[in-house]
Amino acid sequence: MVLVERANPTDRLDVERLIAAYLTSESVKPRPERITWAVEQVMKNRVGGVVLVAREKKAVVGVALAVYSPSAEEGRLLVLNDFFVDPLWRRKGVGRALATRLLEEAKAMRVERIDLEVTPTNANAAAFWKSMGFRTGGRTVYGRDIL
Ligand SMILES: CC(C)(COP(=O)(O)OP(=O)(O)OC[C@H]1O[C@@H](n2cnc3c(N)ncnc32)[C@H](O)[C@@H]1OP(=O)(O)O)[C@@H](O)C(=O)NCCC(=O)NCCS
Repeated sequence: MVLVERANPTDRLDVERLIAAYLTSESVKPRPERITWAVEQVMKNRVGGVVLVAREKKAVVGVALAVYSPSAEEGRLLVLNDFFVDPLWRRKGVGRALATRLLEEAKAMRVERIDLEVTPTNANAAAFWKSMGFRTGGRTVYGRDIL
């Protein structure tokens, strides 16, 4: 039975390990110092947001990291930056449990909307988010590196 809760300081290494695995799965080379920094920003409340862990028999098998972003257009917005379930634990409801808790946390924060990005080839994530009631807004994300 999966248990989802806010990550506590002793979960740090597991959270960072799963986020590194997530980035690798997205063909992004993990940069450990950047992962540590991003996790710390949220867990130490330097930016608003939430880090959730999913536990199966005490092992951390899933993670979600979302940050709060005030939006003139969308109001109180939560942007989900990292979301990953250990491949050995997929299709057992872990992702659904994480996303359900994220929606509850968002409601408690009076967040009006959650946004996330799915890469064009990630059909599994697209099917998962559709099953959770998320829809594409028909927008294309543009980005540019500054440094
Ligand atoms: C996407 C991901 C989080 C789903 O996690 P999960 O724990 O396997 O998902 P769940 O078991 O809770 O699935 C819930 C529902 O989502 C849908 N779904 C999940 N994985 C699916 C897949 N591979 N193909 C089709 N539908 C899928 C199904 O409707 C499923 O319900 P069902 O099992 O009763 O049919 C997981 O595959 C993952 O970590 N992928 C790599 C990282 C990633 O893509 N993250 C999201 C980026 S935004």
